[in-house]
Amino acid sequence: MVELAFSILASDFAHLADEVAAAERGGGSIVHVDIMDGHFVPNITFGPPMVEALRPVTKLPLDCHLMIENPDEYIPAFASAGADLISVHQETCRHLHRTLQLISEHGVLPGVVLNPATPVETLIEVLPMVHYVLVMSVNPGFGGQKFLPLALRKIAHLAELREEMGLKFRIEVDGGVAPETVASVVEAGAEMLVAGSAVFTRGKTEQSARKLLKLARAAEAAQS
Ligand code: DX5
Ligand code: ZN
Repeated sequence: MVELAFSILASDFAHLADEVAAAERGGGSIVHVDIMDGHFVPNITFGPPMVEALRPVTKLPLDCHLMIENPDEYIPAFASAGADLISVHQETCRHLHRTLQLISEHGVLPGVVLNPATPVETLIEVLPMVHYVLVMSVNPGFGGQKFLPLALRKIAHLAELREEMGLKFRIEVDGGVAPETVASVVEAGAEMLVAGSAVFTRGKTEQSARKLLKLARAAEAAQS
């Protein structure tokens, strides 16, 4: 079943708990938290204290997308702040296997992320260790960017590899997921759909989340 992972990056930070509650009422089932360090990506967002602040306001899993250099240094802090899932960029990890192990050792579900320019093949050896693979459909750093269709082929390729290798990891997609693009990502095989600007629409968040999820579920039903 496809799930909506709403990205709080596009929310009204002054009313974060209300924003999360509205997206949840609209059917969102994962809170996607974008962590940016101003080095790996040209933007700065928030750190473990934000995760800690979110933890008591929702029971939904907190999915921390680390767009930071040296993620190993911060994984323990995100885990103790209450992260349920942590993903790291393949491009930031010199010892990706060790980093994924570190996430698991902290009792958190590990994920790995691919930038648009990074091929799926670079993950072959670590696919058996991950709970999810996140395919970026924009270059990371900002919300509200245009969807890059090259992500579709990568999602489909991952789904094929999963089948061939007899694995169970989930496929997440992030960037430009909106009413116009959501069917294509679901058809390609994505199951965790990150959406920020298409969900957090001042005063209409619940309805926007519901609409996006409805389109995703319709695309999913049309396949089976
Ligand atoms: C981009 C972030 C995304 C972002 C998506 O670097 O990883 O999660 O919030 O925003 P939209 O849905 O607006 O493209
Ligand atoms: Zn993200």
